[in-house]
Amino acid sequence: PPLDEILNLHDFEAVARSVLPDKAWAYYSSASDDEITIRENRAAFQRIWFRPRILRDVTSVDWSCTILGQKSSLPLYISATALGKLGHPDGELNLTRAAGKHGVIQMIPTLASCSFDQIVDAAVPGQPLFLQLYVNRNREITKNYVQHAERRGVKALFITVDAPQLGRREKDMRMKFVGDDAGAKVQEGQSGVKKDQGVARAISSFIDPSLSWKDIPWFRSITNMSIILKGVATPEDAIMALEAGVQGIVLSNHGGRQLDTSRSGLENLVDIVAALKTRGPWPNPNFSVFVDGGVRRASDVLKALALGASAVGVGRGFLYAFSSYGQEGVERAIQIFRDEIEMNMRLLGARNLSEVVPEMVDASALHSH
Ligand code: FNR
Repeated sequence: PPLDEILNLHDFEAVARSVLPDKAWAYYSSASDDEITIRENRAAFQRIWFRPRILRDVTSVDWSCTILGQKSSLPLYISATALGKLGHPDGELNLTRAAGKHGVIQMIPTLASCSFDQIVDAAVPGQPLFLQLYVNRNREITKNYVQHAERRGVKALFITVDAPQLGRREKDMRMKFVGDDAGAKVQEGQSGVKKDQGVARAISSFIDPSLSWKDIPWFRSITNMSIILKGVATPEDAIMALEAGVQGIVLSNHGGRQLDTSRSGLENLVDIVAALKTRGPWPNPNFSVFVDGGVRRASDVLKALALGASAVGVGRGFLYAFSSYGQEGVERAIQIFRDEIEMNMRLLGARNLSEVVPEMVDASALHSH
């Protein structure tokens, strides 16, 4: 269908499913084991209900914000998803160009299929970029990568902490990885490819399972970028992250691709915010709490913000948009989010994001299912 017939983010998923080769669809859409967590990521948003306020003069509403000190035109960022060229020949550059044009922040994946420098070169001057990091068993490789990113102006480092081993995405594993598959090529410097277990496992064997809290001071010593732990799921670990001195956390289950039957980030948000409130100022200007998983509508974004998230991450939503329509698809997805945010803020009675408060949602059904 022509792009102007795409009315919401779900439409991109349907198009992607019909145009993508089987292997790409399997890699992008799959989640681990019985795929219960990926379903729950969507379902959790549907257990939260709005409590809209009326008669507030919502002629003009303003959803501008900053994420980790960087200006963003929306309270969301593009989360890292590996292997963009499986979906489109321009891969991650579709995201970079659309993000630059519309003031959105992109998180570059370690396992991008375009090189890191190609992505940074595609950014417009001053365009903020974040970096997602898989930590290599060879720390020298990681150190060089991180320091190179910082020199190239990347603003924040999201260390993925929920993937000491890749989850079993069985749909993907049934597809045999072929080494010369153009889309599945990743940046140089990563080694140990296993070719018989699907795309994900083939490219991920360099990841260091020994990563621990003891490594955090080392990361702090090699970079001045903000450090965010991506994949926190409990109040205990949220507090440990705060005490470890990092600048934030992402409540995430990796889009349902790691430990199946773990809770959604959204559901964890309530308990984690409550725990963090007992340990210092809230909101804490030096500690951001992000949520990702299942975000497809601006109403999802606003629910997470109401419950205390600083911003949310979107993975498959943008991935399916460029798989279907390249850069223009991503631009359309951004425009859809913008239109939905404006309308939903009006209907909610919030004139700016600081008016999106906990009282605007009823989360009493969130834990009952
Ligand atoms: C991911 N995600 C991910 N996360 C990460 O830290 N490093 C990575 O390389 C990848 N790769 C990746 C590939 C694909 C195909 C998907 C779908 C996801 C997880 C991603 O950053 C994010 O946490 C989820 O995608 C959020 O859920 P939604 O928005 O996809 O529902």
